Amino acid sequence: MRCIFLASLFLLGCPGPGAGPVTGTGDPLAPRSSPADAGVKYEPFARAKKLFGQKCAGCHIGSRRQAPRLGPGYNSRVWIKGFLLNPNGDDYYGRTKLGKMKPVKQRGSDLDALVELIYSQSGAKDAKPDLVAIGRKLFDAGGCTDCHAIDWKTEGNSGPNLGKRGSADMLSAFIAEPGHERWYGDKNQMPRFGDKLKPADRRALASYILSWQSSSE
Ligand code: HEC
Ligand code: HEC
Repeated sequence: MRCIFLASLFLLGCPGPGAGPVTGTGDPLAPRSSPADAGVKYEPFARAKKLFGQKCAGCHIGSRRQAPRLGPGYNSRVWIKGFLLNPNGDDYYGRTKLGKMKPVKQRGSDLDALVELIYSQSGAKDAKPDLVAIGRKLFDAGGCTDCHAIDWKTEGNSGPNLGKRGSADMLSAFIAEPGHERWYGDKNQMPRFGDKLKPADRRALASYILSWQSSSE
């Protein structure tokens, strides 16, 4: 798998039948396929999809789910707004023993600014800086800081630290240690995968989850 994937990306040779340079057209002068093309043809998430099915789907997908629903749209603006308006909704914390957060009071453009602040934590390139700055002021003045930090460093607050939330770095660290004091501490109900999944596999899962932010349902 790895050999074929690398071969297709870098046009390296690969021993065995059927190997060799792979391009869209077979024409050596044709432009290199873009990463987006590669995504469709070579399924870089193939391993992550398999791992997700084996290790994560039981709790995060389907009618017997005991955890927030994960899938396309997760951590998009729409998802974040839905959470802020209804943290205990069925897609969110409704099926967990968590669920201490009340719906936010902000509405309209204030709510949009808060959404943008959370959305930007993943590193999303299309986050709007002006709106993020307004969101940050509302976050500090609007009671969120009673329970949340948004700096990655602070530990032990009653709500999870929202810094870098949804980024590949955060997701891969979270999968290793969801009960870290930065996040859910002793309220955590998710198993830790730090000793069950190799860093590369956690990273692969993190990138796969991050890809849902811009895929629609
Ligand atoms: C035994 C059930 C269970 C399994 C298995 C499980 N999770 Fe979770 N997961 C949870 C629960 C419950 C939460 C809610 C927060 C908490 O308890 O820490 C959660 C939270 C999350 C969140 C954060 C949701 C958010 O918006 O803050 C992500 C991302 C996540 N899990 C990914 C995974 C991945 C990836 C795997 C597989 C490697 C996995 N989970 C396996 C139960 C599980
Ligand atoms: C009384 C404490 C409290 C306040 C105030 C609070 N939250 Fe939370 N928040 C939590 C807790 C606890 C969680 C973890 C989920 C749960 O238990 O509901 C959480 C989770 C979150 C999440 C993560 C959802 C996820 O799936 O990972 C976001 C985003 C969030 N809060 C944003 C906000 C914003 C924005 C405000 C201010 C308008 C706010 N919170 C105010 C306690 C609070």
